[in-house]
Amino acid sequence: MTETLSSPQIIKAQDQFESPTMAFARDVLKGLNNTPKRLSSVYFYDERGSQLFEEICELEEYYLTRKETEILQRSAAEIISKLPLNTHLVELGSGSSTKTRILLEAAMARFGTTQYSPIDVSAEILTDTVNDLNHRYPQLQLEAVAGRYEFGMEYILKNSTTSNCIMWLGSSIGNLTRVEATQFLREVRKNISAQDSLLLGIDLRKGPEILEPAYDDARGVTADFNLNLLDRLNNELGGTFERKNFHHQAIYNVEEGRIEMYLVSNIDQEVEIKNIGVSISFKKDEKILTEYSYKYSHNEINALAEASGFFLEQQWLDDKGWFSLNCFKTQNNAPELRAL
Ligand code: AVJ
Repeated sequence: MTETLSSPQIIKAQDQFESPTMAFARDVLKGLNNTPKRLSSVYFYDERGSQLFEEICELEEYYLTRKETEILQRSAAEIISKLPLNTHLVELGSGSSTKTRILLEAAMARFGTTQYSPIDVSAEILTDTVNDLNHRYPQLQLEAVAGRYEFGMEYILKNSTTSNCIMWLGSSIGNLTRVEATQFLREVRKNISAQDSLLLGIDLRKGPEILEPAYDDARGVTADFNLNLLDRLNNELGGTFERKNFHHQAIYNVEEGRIEMYLVSNIDQEVEIKNIGVSISFKKDEKILTEYSYKYSHNEINALAEASGFFLEQQWLDDKGWFSLNCFKTQNNAPELRAL
């Protein structure tokens, strides 16, 4: 792609204390020495992993992206009409901003010039996205931040002079436990005021016959996405994992209301990770937990809002009622927040 327009600058918010490789090594060491073993889902998204995730979003079985797109296409104008004029749109985990474009177009139709601040951990994806948006939508005022959400959000909100709508789409909140989700939203709550709002895409509880194929598709793209973690361990930390000695598993835990993804060892084995000087042993059928993807009931969405100092102002669903888009507004009477 050739780009002749001058590109907007991307603000980089890196943790200065530790290199990304060091942080990865530390987490891997801790996670694989844990019983049961685990690796964090944040490490799925290297270049290959991000590509595979985009492919997942196109899969027949992975209904989440399609349902959320359906909701956005139907309701974007209405969603935007509820916001104060010239509301600054701030997006967490924007990726390629594909679905967001529906909202951006609705916002530009109403506001004219629109402020949009995508925040993403991947500087590479952000660069491509920002260049593309800048080229396509001259009315967009872009200020992108590469780095952790907490940092990016604080930076953007501190410098914002209008009302803000913080968007967190795609049910990414599902990667947090219910307690972590509440803690995270409380942090967001502390950074925003009464005119501001939160637009959250949240996947709903449903039967395992729909959920399990969504996380274990027939073409094996999700398996590839999961196994890519082993390639990362090999390439970045000198691991000696062999893909053929592990397989992908996705189980829906009905009580907890979450998909659990695992890498399961096919054999008894000993795997060296050279750069961190360890050898990890696996029994046959031993699992590494790689991801939780929490699903919510309507009661749980309301409870999440309440517990974090918000209330559910409005909710949009797709035709089948599988996915939800939720507008949270701040709740004034939340005395427990002051105690935190
Ligand atoms: C990006 C966290 C929303 O949990 O559905 C997709 C990640 N994992 N397939 C999800 C994912 C396996 C996805 N999120």
